Amino acid sequence: MSDKVKLGFIACGGIIRSHLDQGLGRFPDVEFVGWCDLDPAVAEARKAQVGGQGAVYTDAKQMLDEAKPDAVYIALPPYGHGVPEALVVERRLPFFIEKPVAIDTATAERIAEGVEKHGLITSVGYMTRYRRSVRRVRELLQQQTPVLMHGGWLGGGPGSYDGIWRWWVQKDKSGGQFLEQTTHTIDLARYLYGEVARVYAVPVRDRRARPEFFTIEDASMVQLSFANGAAANLYSSCSTSIGGGVFMTLFATDMKAEFTGWEHSVKIDLPAGEHIEIPGEANVFALEDRAFVDAVKAGRPQGILASYRDGLKAVQISCAANESMVTGAPVDLS
Ligand SMILES: NC(=O)c1ccc[n+]([C@@H]2O[C@H](COP(=O)([O-])OP(=O)(O)OC[C@H]3O[C@@H](n4cnc5c(N)ncnc54)[C@H](O)[C@@H]3O)[C@@H](O)[C@H]2O)c1
Repeated sequence: MSDKVKLGFIACGGIIRSHLDQGLGRFPDVEFVGWCDLDPAVAEARKAQVGGQGAVYTDAKQMLDEAKPDAVYIALPPYGHGVPEALVVERRLPFFIEKPVAIDTATAERIAEGVEKHGLITSVGYMTRYRRSVRRVRELLQQQTPVLMHGGWLGGGPGSYDGIWRWWVQKDKSGGQFLEQTTHTIDLARYLYGEVARVYAVPVRDRRARPEFFTIEDASMVQLSFANGAAANLYSSCSTSIGGGVFMTLFATDMKAEFTGWEHSVKIDLPAGEHIEIPGEANVFALEDRAFVDAVKAGRPQGILASYRDGLKAVQISCAANESMVTGAPVDLS
């Protein structure tokens, strides 16, 4: 590998624009060699963002074979996963992949098997893990027994159906809000409280007039039982315009932690009136991008806080919730 890590991109939409703006685009030790998107105008826009570096492709295989990246960023919508990752795994390339890693467990399990067979460095875009607030709470929880937690993503939903919102509101394309968006909270719940053993989900539908292609739930409540006996309730809503937002509150035996906002600022309460407040960082994409690029340079996953297997676990929990919403029964994750 030369001094600079050569990066190729598969799917170059809005989230890659953010990575370039806030992280990768400012790193002196990366080079952009290939931009692949089904829509070449989107790939051209990302190329223009970095001063015209790299070539534009509409076929991932061609990009990998011609641009020859050292590592790949994959930022596909949930419905697009599987085939592109298999091409990357075949070439034994390290990859960063945006959440959720798949819309179904079979795809994620197949890719995880290839990743682990070849010992590939992977990183999943669960950027919240890199926040100081989360790391401090995780540290404090080592001295606690986890009890209860609740959190989620509540909002009013899209006002129009352009861009991402067109696929986001279709259940067979996005997997629904819990799988696509609340996945950040699922991952945070696992990161703080451990493995999930059982999932029970209640869907809420028909709260607002919707176009016929709107097939996701208007809201849902998902109950998680952790293997250690603690429990969580996770909310998702795209039908409530007042209040809500991104939040999580957890109660351990002698500790309360309340995260608020996308930036996950936290207020922590401990015995004897001890109170800690930690604001969330504005530029968290830079932290996870730095960790991935450094790991690629080192040839080992040092500093990466979420691996492909973590992505698979979140998909398993999400798909169990989707199954529970259909059957009305809890699903065991053994
Ligand atoms: N970490 C975060 O906070 C965060 C934020 C936003 C989005 N995301 C995730 O990133 C992913 C992409 O979201 P986005 O906002 O960039 O969506 P987007 O709709 O803006 O872009 C997706 C792009 O993928 C392209 N595409 C689809 N199938 C493809 C294929 N087979 N090969 C090449 N290109 C293909 C489309 O043409 C489109 O340009 C989603 O999974 C989303 O959940 C993560």
